[in-house]
Amino acid sequence: MIDLKQRNIIVTGASGGIGRASVIAFAKAGARVIMLDRDVAGLNDTVEIVQSNGGSVHAIPCDITDEQAVKAAIDEVVERFSVLHGAFNNAGIEQSHLPLHEISAEAWDRIIKVDLTGVFYCMKHQVRAMLGAGGGSIVNTASALGAVAIAAASDYVAAKHGVLGLTKAAAVDYGPHGIRVNAILPGIIETPMILRLSQEDNFANQFQALRDRHPIGRFGKPEEVAAAALWLLSDASSFVTGSSLSVDGGYLAI
Ligand SMILES: NC(=O)c1ccc[n+]([C@@H]2O[C@H](COP(=O)([O-])OP(=O)(O)OC[C@H]3O[C@@H](n4cnc5c(N)ncnc54)[C@H](O)[C@@H]3O)[C@@H](O)[C@H]2O)c1
Repeated sequence: MIDLKQRNIIVTGASGGIGRASVIAFAKAGARVIMLDRDVAGLNDTVEIVQSNGGSVHAIPCDITDEQAVKAAIDEVVERFSVLHGAFNNAGIEQSHLPLHEISAEAWDRIIKVDLTGVFYCMKHQVRAMLGAGGGSIVNTASALGAVAIAAASDYVAAKHGVLGLTKAAAVDYGPHGIRVNAILPGIIETPMILRLSQEDNFANQFQALRDRHPIGRFGKPEEVAAAALWLLSDASSFVTGSSLSVDGGYLAI
C-alpha cells in the first residue's frame, strides 16, 4: 500500500466528488489532509466521514479565486503544521456549454478564474511554502479536455490546456528545488459535476456518445482518480515530474 504517513497534504475542491474521494484515500494512507473548498457544508461532511474512520483532517473554507484567502490558508498550514509536503489542486467548475461566439466575457472570466487562475494562486503559495521545506509534490487536476476538445466547451478546454502548460512550466522551474509537479487528466468521472451536466438540455444528448468514447465501456469513479493522485503525491513516483497522467478509461487513446 502507498504510504503518506507524516505528510501534510492540501486538497482543494475537498467538498466534492474527486476531492472528497481523494481526502478519504490520502487520510487512509496516513496523511494529515488539509481541505480547502468554498462549500463549507460540504467540508463539514467530509470532515465527519474521515474522522469517523480515524483519519486526520483539517478544514479551511477558502475560495481559490481570492489570492489573499489562498495565501492565508497556506500560511495557516505552515503555522499549524510546520511543513507542507504535498498538494492536490483539484477544485474546478464546468464549462458554460455554449459555442465560443455565445460565451459572455463574464462567463469566460469566471471559468478561467476558477479553473486556471485559481490553480496558479494555489501553486504560487504552495511552492513558496515548499521552497522553505526542501521540496514537495504538487498534482493538478486538468482533464482529458486539457489535451483535446469537445463541442461547446472552449472556456473549459482553454483553462484545462492552460493547467497542463502551468504544470510543465512549474516542473521545469522547481525540479532543481525538489518540487515535483504533475497533472492528472480524468475522463468522465461520476461526480456531482457530471450529474449537473447530465441535466443540462444542451449537454444531455452528448452523454451516450461520450460513454462510447471510453474504450473501457464506462465512466470512471472518483476513487480511481484519487488512487492516481495518491501515487503522484507519494515517493513511489519520485522520478515523475512535468507529466500528464490520463485516468480516462482510454478516452485519449482513440
Ligand atoms: N467529473 C469529471 O468528469 C471530470 C473530468 C475531468 C476533469 N474534472 C475536474 O476534476 C475536478 C473535480 O471535479 P468534480 O467532478 O469532483 O467536481 P465537483 O463539482 O463534484 O467538485 C468540485 C469541488 O470544487 C469546489 N470549488 C469550485 N469552485 C471553487 C472555488 N472557487 N474555490 C474553492 N472550491 C471550489 C466545489 O465546491 C466542489 O466541492 C475539477 O477540476 C474538474 O474540472 C472532472
